[in-house]
Amino acid sequence: MIENENMVDPIQNSTLEGISEKLKSELLNPQNIGKMDFPDSYARVTGVCGDTIEMYLSVKDGKIKNIKFWTNGCGATIACSSYVTRMSKGKSIENAFKIKPKDIDNYFEGLPDEHKHCAKLAVITLKAVLKEYARKQL
Ligand code: FES
Repeated sequence: MIENENMVDPIQNSTLEGISEKLKSELLNPQNIGKMDFPDSYARVTGVCGDTIEMYLSVKDGKIKNIKFWTNGCGATIACSSYVTRMSKGKSIENAFKIKPKDIDNYFEGLPDEHKHCAKLAVITLKAVLKEYARKQL
């Protein structure tokens, strides 16, 4: 029993080892998690790893008033989605389209190699919810 308990800490610590303080802080305190009733737009994207992100968008006067996400993905996906939603809130649709996976990677001072694709999935989902909003305006 005790042996099993002792194994937990090194495993948990190793997932946080070597990552930046910014990534650690976003992982421990993610923003904008949740679903939204009556969003102006909604998108759901599943990445190559099989993880899914959903995003909900509300827009007022051409700017993103609120954006929320839900995911069944890894911690990095939660952190990347949190960052993407924080960065896009208050931006115009056009400016939110400019957010790139590289911006996330730079902000977090380099995501672990095996989690670079999580930033891509967060941005692909953001673009999908923005495109859906634009489509509904036609
Ligand atoms: S491991 Fe699948 S998106 Fe992070």
